[in-house]
Amino acid sequence: MRLVVTGASSFVGAWFCLAAQRGHEVIGLAYETRLHLPGVRTVRLNLGAPEAGAQLAALRPDTVVHLACKVMGSGPAGGPETEATRLNRRMMDQVLAVGAPILYGSSTCVHWPKDTAYAQSRREDEARLAASGLPWAALRPSAPYGPPLAGHQPRHPESFHTLARWVRRGVVPVPGDGRALRQPIHVEDLSLAALALIEGGLPNEALDAGGPEALPFNVIIDLLAEAMGRRARKVHLPLGLLVRVARRLPGFEPALLAAADCDDPADPSRLIQRSGLTPRRFEDGARTLVG
Ligand SMILES: NC(=O)c1ccc[n+]([C@@H]2O[C@H](COP(=O)([O-])OP(=O)(O)OC[C@H]3O[C@@H](n4cnc5c(N)ncnc54)[C@H](OP(=O)(O)O)[C@@H]3O)[C@@H](O)[C@H]2O)c1
Repeated sequence: MRLVVTGASSFVGAWFCLAAQRGHEVIGLAYETRLHLPGVRTVRLNLGAPEAGAQLAALRPDTVVHLACKVMGSGPAGGPETEATRLNRRMMDQVLAVGAPILYGSSTCVHWPKDTAYAQSRREDEARLAASGLPWAALRPSAPYGPPLAGHQPRHPESFHTLARWVRRGVVPVPGDGRALRQPIHVEDLSLAALALIEGGLPNEALDAGGPEALPFNVIIDLLAEAMGRRARKVHLPLGLLVRVARRLPGFEPALLAAADCDDPADPSRLIQRSGLTPRRFEDGARTLVG
C-alpha cells in the first residue's frame, strides 16, 4: 500500500513512518521540521495552503494517515476561534478532499471533563470523518511515549523526554497533587496497532489507545525513576500558578495545562480486539526511555 502520512515530522508520526516502511511505500509529509527517515520519502507541504489538497491528491495515497495538528494557540473552549483551530479545520478539508481512506490521530482530550478548543476541534474532525462516507478510524492516544529516534528532532519536545530529563536532575515539578490518572501507550505499540487497523480494513470508528493500566502521574514518575536507577523528589505545584506561568512561555498550551488534574483513562480493550495487538505495561516500556 502507499501510505501518505501528514505530521510525519512529529514524534508519533516519525515512529509510525518507520514501522510502516517495513511493509509499505511511505510518503512522510513535513512542513517546518527537518525529516530524514530511512525507507521514507519526505515531501514538504503546508497543509494550510489552498493548493495543498491538489498536492496531496497527486501523491495518490491508498490511505492517508492524518497526524498533523496544531495544539499551541488553540485556546480555551468557548473563546473566539483561533488560527490554530482554523488551521486544523483547513487541514482536515484537504485530507477529506483526497477521497482516500483516513486513519486520524485524535486524542483522549475529547473525553476530559474540562473542555478545550483543541478537544472541540478533534471532536469536529471525528464527526466529519464519520459523515464522510470514506473508510476511516480515529485513534485517541493517552500519553504516547518511547525513546527518541536517532537523528530526528520534533519541533514539539516529547513530554516523556522532558520528564526523563527532570528525573535525571533529581527533582520533578508536578502539576497539582499528581493523582490524576494517565494511561501511557508505547509509541511502537501505537504504531503497530494503527498499521494493523489499516491492513485489516479501517473499522469506521474512534478507538481509545492506552496502555494496559491507568496510573497516577506520581506513580509514572516513580516507575520512570526506577527504570533509570534514580531517585526523584516530586515538587507539587499549584495548577493555577503553572497555568499563569505557561501563558508567558512558548511550548505550552495553557488551556490543556489547566486540565492536567483531569483523569485521562484510555481503555485499550476495543483497540486490542480490532488490531490484535496488546500494548506493553509502562513498567516495561519505561526501560526503553532510559537510553
Ligand atoms: N504527543 C501527545 O502527547 C499526543 C497525545 C494525544 C494525541 N496525539 C496525537 O498524535 C499526533 C501527533 O501529535 P504530536 O503531539 O506528536 O504532534 P506535534 O509534535 O505537535 O507535531 C505536529 C505535526 O503537525 C505538523 N504540522 C503543523 N502545522 C502544519 C502545516 N501547516 N502543514 C503541514 N504540517 C503541519 C507538524 O509539521 P512540522 O513540524 O514539520 O511543521 C508536525 O509534524 C496528533 O494527531 C495528535 O493528536 C499526541
